[in-house]
Amino acid sequence: MKRIYLDHGATTPVDKEVTKTMLPYFTEKYGNVSSLHSFGREAMEAIDKAREHIAKLINAEPKEIIFTSGGTEADNMAIKEIAFNNREKGNHIITSKIEHPAVENTCKFLEKMGFKITYLAVDKEGFVSTEELEKTITKETILVSIMHANNEIGTIQPIEEIGKTCKENNIYFHTDTVQTVGKVPIDVKKMNVDLLSSSAHKLYGPKGVGFLFVREGTKISSLIHGGNHENGLRAGTENVTGIVGFGKACELAMERMNKKTTHLTNLRDKLIKGVLEIEDCWLNGHQTKRLPGNANFSFKYIEGESLLMYLDEKGIAASTGSACSTKELKPSHVLTAIGLKPEEAHGSLRLTLGKDNTEEEVDYVLKVLPEIVEKLRKMSPLAKNK
Ligand SMILES: Cc1ncc(COP(=O)(O)O)c(C=O)c1O
Repeated sequence: MKRIYLDHGATTPVDKEVTKTMLPYFTEKYGNVSSLHSFGREAMEAIDKAREHIAKLINAEPKEIIFTSGGTEADNMAIKEIAFNNREKGNHIITSKIEHPAVENTCKFLEKMGFKITYLAVDKEGFVSTEELEKTITKETILVSIMHANNEIGTIQPIEEIGKTCKENNIYFHTDTVQTVGKVPIDVKKMNVDLLSSSAHKLYGPKGVGFLFVREGTKISSLIHGGNHENGLRAGTENVTGIVGFGKACELAMERMNKKTTHLTNLRDKLIKGVLEIEDCWLNGHQTKRLPGNANFSFKYIEGESLLMYLDEKGIAASTGSACSTKELKPSHVLTAIGLKPEEAHGSLRLTLGKDNTEEEVDYVLKVLPEIVEKLRKMSPLAKNK
């Protein structure tokens, strides 16, 4: 049976060109960046090249890119290090109610340490209000952390406006761009972003590597203590193969962005139009201000988990809620934040398209999904009582 992968929001396959670029760094060019000999220099040159590709993609300077073990570490570093290094200025951090657990739980940890955290509400499409943000800022506010696009519902925030508000108020601004780097144009200068986190495995790079952009002059130190790697800002022998892969993935993303976005947007809109023909179902998030490959629906009277199982039987890989929380039975905090009742949140389905998905695959989903929904509703006591 042909398998159709519609879970690119969880992770993506490593691009063949990326793998090819990485391979020599496992077996031939395996030097440690800290070594002074030619092997070390070769590795250093490779990560410098990757840093340049990444910096170019977000309009930053190469020295402002710090490699990490992924998005989670980059989020932790940004928030904790701003908090710990700017205590003399204040102890208030503003974030939103729909952040990824990497941000949400870092903020909860800081709350236990005495920091004051404001979790901004979002509207029914998932947008943070800049006016609300302005009202929440106090003299104690040191950091605002708002994600660029949400991993579940795909909503893209007005980052430029948020950045402007932070700049005017002299507050550091961090944004989690794990879902957007390589998919949506990013310019850290235009967006007034001071810190930005990303991860390679969402853009056809390998797992276990990410970066934090830190604007020059930002008061920050290393989260992980040890050697003097990454200019003293992230200890630990560099993951050279991973970084090389990330650099290549960013280079390819930049070359292919326009074509890829058009392809993804067309497929997404076809999918949305087709799925919305099913009775008692709706789209979560905004119709157009959303990630090019993201579609998130709620179906009344059924459980997202059963939907996933039946789709999986037909070869279709999707998710309900976010990948990182599928083992929990709590309704998604993102879906409840946009106003869904717990039972409506449980009936959600996230389909995230990738560059290699085709129209035929979308047609297949549009044929299979209504049949599954009908079958599940026939079995559902909730549907019978409607
Ligand atoms: C918005 C967002 N932030 C952070 C992360 C965590 O990134 P990583 O898997 O590289 O730790 C993810 C992963 O799903 C994500 O979607």
